Amino acid sequence: MGLRAGKTPMIVDATAGLGRDSFLLASLGAQVTLIERSEKMHALLVQGMKRAAREGGQIREIIGRMTLLKGDALDVIPELAGEAILIDPMHPERKNSALVKQDLRQVREIVGSDDDAADLVRLAIKHARKRVVLKWPAKAAPIEGVKKCTHQIIGKTTRYDVFMIS
Ligand SMILES: C[S@@+](CC[C@H](N)C(=O)[O-])C[C@H]1O[C@@H](n2cnc3c(N)ncnc32)[C@H](O)[C@@H]1O
Repeated sequence: MGLRAGKTPMIVDATAGLGRDSFLLASLGAQVTLIERSEKMHALLVQGMKRAAREGGQIREIIGRMTLLKGDALDVIPELAGEAILIDPMHPERKNSALVKQDLRQVREIVGSDDDAADLVRLAIKHARKRVVLKWPAKAAPIEGVKKCTHQIIGKTTRYDVFMIS
């Protein structure tokens, strides 16, 4: 996402979900704006962030760097001018659903699938100032209708398709 020593970009997490990626980025010092369109996921996140802030200390500081917005990122992103935009849509359903972690199965029960992910990536590429990062299953085909990424960071189960903005 462009974090390095002494550099903490303004990040937009367009698909907040359980807020884990945002929490991680904020714990590394980034200011993160989270966007969530599901009423229920948004309400759960509000509760979770409040509870976390009550812990005080470092956790409160990290939560202080996270700003949660309710809405569709397709509408909100054009107004934000984010330096780096993270997109982690619900992944295509795996054949072996036993491999899908329980927490993500629960999110899927709430939000269903994100069939407009290609629109979101294209819009993010148009509005991000530096980069867009798409988190996607390591072995899945690229999302149809999105241009080729600049480079990829590939993990065991997840890969990150990075689109640098020139
Ligand atoms: C796979 S989860 C994200 C998990 C998250 N990265 C985490 O660390 O917990 C996808 C979430 O993005 C939300 N979402 C998908 N498309 C969106 C959009 N266009 N605007 C806002 N939220 C969106 C879904 O409602 C769902 O909660």
